Formats: sequence, C-alpha cells, structure tokens
Amino acid sequence: MKNIVVTGGAGFVGSNLALYLQEHFQGSHIIVVDDFRKSGFKNLEGFKGDVIASNVADGEWIQTVKTKKIDAVFHIASITDTTVMDEKKMMRDNVDGFRNILDFAVEKSAPVVYASSAAVYGSFNRKMREEDGGKPNNIYGFSKWVMENLAETYYSKLKIVGLRYFNVFGPGEYHKGLAASMIYQLAIQMIKGNRPRMFKWGEQRRDFVYIKDVVSATVGALSAKENAVINVGTGKSTSFNEIVEILNKILNSGRKPVYFDNPYGFYQNFTEADISKAKDIIGYEPKYTTALAIEEYITKYLFSRDAESRAV
Ligand SMILES: NC(=O)c1ccc[n+]([C@@H]2O[C@H](COP(=O)([O-])OP(=O)(O)OC[C@H]3O[C@@H](n4cnc5c(N)ncnc54)[C@H](O)[C@@H]3O)[C@@H](O)[C@H]2O)c1
Repeated sequence: MKNIVVTGGAGFVGSNLALYLQEHFQGSHIIVVDDFRKSGFKNLEGFKGDVIASNVADGEWIQTVKTKKIDAVFHIASITDTTVMDEKKMMRDNVDGFRNILDFAVEKSAPVVYASSAAVYGSFNRKMREEDGGKPNNIYGFSKWVMENLAETYYSKLKIVGLRYFNVFGPGEYHKGLAASMIYQLAIQMIKGNRPRMFKWGEQRRDFVYIKDVVSATVGALSAKENAVINVGTGKSTSFNEIVEILNKILNSGRKPVYFDNPYGFYQNFTEADISKAKDIIGYEPKYTTALAIEEYITKYLFSRDAESRAV
C-alpha cells in the first residue's frame, strides 16, 4: 500500500490528479488535504481515499497522519485567485503552508512535487525560460517565487520538483468562478448564446495547457532526473481572439467579441512556455494542442451530463 498525499485535492488540478492516481496507481491510498475554501466535494465524485479538511498552514493536519508511512506528497493547495491583495494572508497560506509540507516530507523521507506558476515571470513578450523567473506582477506570483526559493534550501534533504503551470483549463474548474480559465469563461458565455466578453482588444496571448497534460507532467515529475523547477505549458501561446475563433468553429456559430477596459494593472498580457527543460528532466511531451484540447473539453465535458455534476 502506498500512501500519497495530495494537498488542494478538492480543487481543479488536485482533484484531477487524485482521481488519476487512484485509477492508475493500483493499491495506493490517496489522502487529500484541503480546507474546501473555494472548492467542493463534487470535484471528488468517485474518490475512494481519505480527506483531511484542514488549512496546510495550520499544521494540525500533520498530527492526523503522523504515524503513517507516506510515499509521496503532491502539494497543489494554494490561494489561486491572482486578484487577492491581502499580502499577509497570501504569504501565510502559500509560503508557510509549503514550509510545513517540506518539513513533513523531510520527516517522512517522501519526495515532493509542488505547484508553482507562470505568474513568477510577470510581464514578458517572448518565450519564458526557467531562468527568467523572479519578476512577478502580483503577490500571488511573489508567493510562488518565494516557495521556489524555499524549496531550493531543501534540495540536499529531499527529492523535490516545482512545476510552473501555465494557463490550465479543463474539467473540474467551474468552482473557480472568475478565476477559472479564459477558455472556460468564453466557452460558457458562447454556449449560453451570448457574445464572448474580453479585455480590449483580445490580442492578449496565453499558453493554455490541458489538465490531462498537466496531470501527466505532475505524476511524471516524481521520476525527475534531478531537483528542479520546470515549465508546464504547451510551448505555444494562443490569443483570446483566436480562442473565440476556435470556439465558433466547434459551436458552429459566429459570435463576435465584446471588448471592455482591463481594470487590472498587473495583468499578464503574454505567456508562452519554453518546455525544453521539462522534456529533458521529466520527459514531458504535451499530447494536446490547445485547439484539440478545447474541442475535447467542449464536446466531452461541457456538453455532457458531467457538466451538471463534477466536470465544468
Ligand atoms: N489553474 C491554473 O491555471 C494554474 C496556473 C498556475 C499555477 N496553478 C497552481 O496550481 C495549483 C492548483 O490550482 P487550481 O487551478 O487547481 O486551483 P483551485 O483553487 O481549484 O485549487 C486549490 C485548492 O487548494 C485548496 N486550498 C487553498 N489554500 C489552501 C490551504 N492553505 N490549505 C488547504 N487547502 C487549501 C482550495 O480549497 C482548493 O481546493 C495551485 O497551486 C495554483 O497556484 C494553477
């Protein structure tokens, strides 16, 4: 029996990961640690493991698993709303929470894979390479950057890999509301028969990566050649206007965008991952282009029964 901890396991990425591990790692016991601040049990439909409803920054959850052998820790929990401005709370939950995870992993001699973010890059207009990080535009990106710095101080004691996810989309993100992916927001507006709304002039470009590739990369990171921080994207950016074109094709519609002013000064207008390091260190090769993934997302999930239960 392998005990695997997934923090943030009720959220978008964490629930997809927990359900994947349950299906593919036969005989494993998945322990989700999540305080359900935003997410809900619907993301974990069909889950057969344990759930500890706790804030990772409090540390009380560690008592619950103190006597257990732990084989791996996926630390996915985080405040994920980039518009949250409470700096102390962001740092406490994201960074102190991670500190607890790292100390816990050292005690258990368990490898750690953790979620960082493309937000550590801030404003850029070319492909982002890992060494470009460290100029975040907001406190969310800063908290991820500090997590990476902290992780490095544990490199001699632990197997530890940080993943800079780019814009993840796919089933399981509906609970995120306005923090859900732009693809989700635009698709839902268009499926409801409305015109898609976006910031002027829709030329913002993001590296939109499908949840299934993100889960593969996350699991693959356990077998990384070395401790590292790695980009997880598709390697290609797509503009918001192009997303609408793709959606119009799939939905067989011709809806034109409505543009409005962007109120966020710290917005990332461009992200695109250089994924060569991910290929080298964890053998990561995305299976989906953004367009293919959108098609699967719409036809298999947003239009299915799943849409009313866990999926969207
Ligand atoms: N979705 C993306 O596009 C994206 C991009 C870059 C990085 N990330 C990172 O990936 C991870 C997962 O993001 P997501 O999209 O699944 O977000 P999400 O909000 O759906 O999931 C986060 C989960 O963590 C839980 N949580 C938050 N803080 C916690 C704490 N202190 N203790 C316990 N539980 C806590 C929440 O309840 C939620 O279930 C995060 O670390 C996020 O920063 C996501």
